Amino acid sequence: MTILDSVDNQATPSSAAAEAIALDDRYVAHNYAPLPVVAASAEGAWITDVTGRRYLDCLAAYSAINFGHRNPEIIAAAHAQLDRLTLVSRAFHSDRLGPFAQALATLCGKDMVLPMNSGAEAVETGIKVARKWGADVKGVKANSSNIVVAHNNFHGRTTTIISFSDDAAARRGFGPFTPGFRSIDFGDHQALDDAIDANTVAVLIEPIQGEAGVIVPPAAFLPRVREICTRRNVLMIADEIQSGLARTGRTFACEHWGVVPDVYLLGKALGGGVVALSAVVADRDVLGVLHPGEHGSTFGGNPLAAAIGSTVVGMLRRGEFQLRSTELGTQLHERLRGLIGQGVVAVRGMGLWAGVDIDPALGTGKQLGMALAERGVLVKDTQGCTLRFAPPLVVTADELDWAVDQFADALMQARR
Ligand SMILES: Cc1ncc(COP(=O)(O)O)c(C=O)c1O
Repeated sequence: MTILDSVDNQATPSSAAAEAIALDDRYVAHNYAPLPVVAASAEGAWITDVTGRRYLDCLAAYSAINFGHRNPEIIAAAHAQLDRLTLVSRAFHSDRLGPFAQALATLCGKDMVLPMNSGAEAVETGIKVARKWGADVKGVKANSSNIVVAHNNFHGRTTTIISFSDDAAARRGFGPFTPGFRSIDFGDHQALDDAIDANTVAVLIEPIQGEAGVIVPPAAFLPRVREICTRRNVLMIADEIQSGLARTGRTFACEHWGVVPDVYLLGKALGGGVVALSAVVADRDVLGVLHPGEHGSTFGGNPLAAAIGSTVVGMLRRGEFQLRSTELGTQLHERLRGLIGQGVVAVRGMGLWAGVDIDPALGTGKQLGMALAERGVLVKDTQGCTLRFAPPLVVTADELDWAVDQFADALMQARR
């Protein structure tokens, strides 16, 4: 069976799909606007909907499915742990948390791990740790610290995080906001140096801005951020929640620039596409500022998540996913760049992660996303006219070629 044969391009909307969408509409808060695809099962890079129609997943849950849907090694670890122990209060120890923290700290070249659940929680935790470090170590006066962030950042949706977002939809009606943040243009290291003062405790940055459209900074930026943070005694916090864990061809995107941040924020793929598992990873002089009672989470570091996280770290240590991302990423970017002038205006990214700007004359990113879904390829639009391609790293070269063929076809249709 060829890839094309495996996708039923004649599929019509079924009553099963319509019913599922109607239930969502009726009972689920409308804080998302999903494509009309109702997933029922998935394996590797493919999702099957309730009608039995298959789609190539080129979004991978924003990097949470880096290792593929239901990766057999991760599922086996999850099953084994489900049969032993799933959750204990952090009032007790479990035999899973220590080994996971050791493995992750070693992978990061750091001393300690603070496990949480969602990415936003890791960011919130990073902010708290930086403020506490500022108070206890740097000697910043109580309630007067600030953190420098980049314009067009995306770090999550909690109240503090949207306080320093530029996204009007994420902020409108949600104030009052948390003070203590200042924004500079992503890529402008001079502006960063100028924004730092005696009360600055951290610079919080995505090495590559995902939601902004997979924006890769100028080559000098991250090394300069590192140098400035060291010189000004400010923590460099890298939000690698979407960019990290092999997505760009390296374990951490920062590695592309030879940069080691003081604090890594990790999430998404850390939970292997099975559980919500995030972490703040740093040296003892940073994470050691937290004491019992100052921070926590009922599910943070639970045995099931820790067992899965250990497996994920083991898989990353082997390097095969980083290699796949590098090799297949070269293919993806070459093919996508070949569409420049045929409806594509620009292609950015690294590894198996591409932001593709569409000629606005052809329609919105959302419309093209719909056209691609009709052809059996799932992508996500962002910023109006940008599409993101970020398939699971287990995707094959043939599948990638097929996905880009579908994209070329959708563009051709749109040009007519
Ligand atoms: C860079 C980055 N940080 C943080 C988050 C928030 O993660 P979560 O949705 O798990 O809270 C995201 C989510 O897309 C992200 O891309």
